[in-house]
Amino acid sequence: MDCWENKHLLDPDWLDRRKHFNPSFKQDLLLSFFHIFDSETKILMNLLDTYVDKGEIDVVPEMLRWSFKIAAQTTMGSEVKHDEHFKNGSLVECFESLISHSTLNILMPLVQNKMVSKICGYDKLRADNFSRIQKMLDNVVNKKVNPSPKTDSDPELNIVINRAMELYRKGDITYMDVKSECCIMIAAGYDTSALTVYHTLFLLANHPEHQEAVFEELNAAFPDAGHFEITYPDMQKLDYLERVIKETLRLIPAIPITARETKNDVRLSNGVLIPKGVVIGIDMFHTHRNPEVWGPNADNFNPDNFLAENMEQKHSYAYIPFARGKRNCIGSKYAMMSSKFALCRILRNYKISTNTLYKDLVYVDNMTMKLAEYPRLKLQRRS
Ligand code: HEM
Repeated sequence: MDCWENKHLLDPDWLDRRKHFNPSFKQDLLLSFFHIFDSETKILMNLLDTYVDKGEIDVVPEMLRWSFKIAAQTTMGSEVKHDEHFKNGSLVECFESLISHSTLNILMPLVQNKMVSKICGYDKLRADNFSRIQKMLDNVVNKKVNPSPKTDSDPELNIVINRAMELYRKGDITYMDVKSECCIMIAAGYDTSALTVYHTLFLLANHPEHQEAVFEELNAAFPDAGHFEITYPDMQKLDYLERVIKETLRLIPAIPITARETKNDVRLSNGVLIPKGVVIGIDMFHTHRNPEVWGPNADNFNPDNFLAENMEQKHSYAYIPFARGKRNCIGSKYAMMSSKFALCRILRNYKISTNTLYKDLVYVDNMTMKLAEYPRLKLQRRS
């Protein structure tokens, strides 16, 4: 097993492990991440600033780097900032390549064949990427093996790496498991959040009337453009932006499909019996566009879908971008906070437009939502 695989995802002890990591996603810890959201979003904005009035540009790589750096620091702690590959930005490419490779393994099982993998060069690519990621993980985890004593007031006490080290010291998990927990957390968090921010910008570029409504809300909350301070109470007041993000996750969920296995025979309401042990695909993408639930214009972008009065009649499983039940997304609050934080700064400072139409997007089968082509965006400064 390498750090990319996580045997705990299929482990009967999974529930205990999940409970152990819950404190890493508690509100007070998430709020303590604001300084990381702030500094990384400043770096992102400085880069985006260089694209203003330069025509349409590909912003996805910048979004991925922004999100990756946040996920790595909130999972591994400030120590990760000293890692060479973290500093030069190359780790995000390693993660991206491994995610694509894992998808290829699922969609084209032939690639799992050792000979095919070797001939196509996947073996070497995968090994190179692992080696860089392992170095970063070892650099940080090694320092934790004999740490200076932590106090209860240490702001990083409950971050994922420190919770994992607690299990390691008790002998509940191995050194490799610690690395694996960190690696899986970063991989699960950064791509999904980066794409959500990008999809939101794209959809608003296609719907200028909604973009103006978001801007008005942001302008009222943050009258001065630039790197204005953002607090949690500020963010809570941004109802329109919140609805826009939810609507984005409805139309373009960052994870479009997942699977569950039945533990017992299940009788559906239409009488069909699904026997125990069957793996069922859960298609969030089409569930979110079901006209019987979302109306005849289910494919249209309409943030008002998330007005309280429009949601109260909906089935609780009609909207599941973070899945539901015990195995739902542990990072859902974190994802909403970090995405909203970045969108506040971007949409307050820039007007976004694009020549690509929403109806022309081509969605591609993948573990996370991918597009055949990522439309470029144009940025104009707002005062
Ligand atoms: C908009 C962003 C995100 C979306 C749409 C999303 C969505 C999801 C979904 C649908 C699942 C369930 C997958 C399954 O059924 O197997 C999931 C699981 C998970 N997510 Fe997220 N996620 C997001 C961001 C994050 C972030 C920021 C983190 C961590 C910092 C994270 C960590 C995880 C983990 C660890 C799991 C596995 C949970 C378990 O099995 O106990 N996610 N996510």
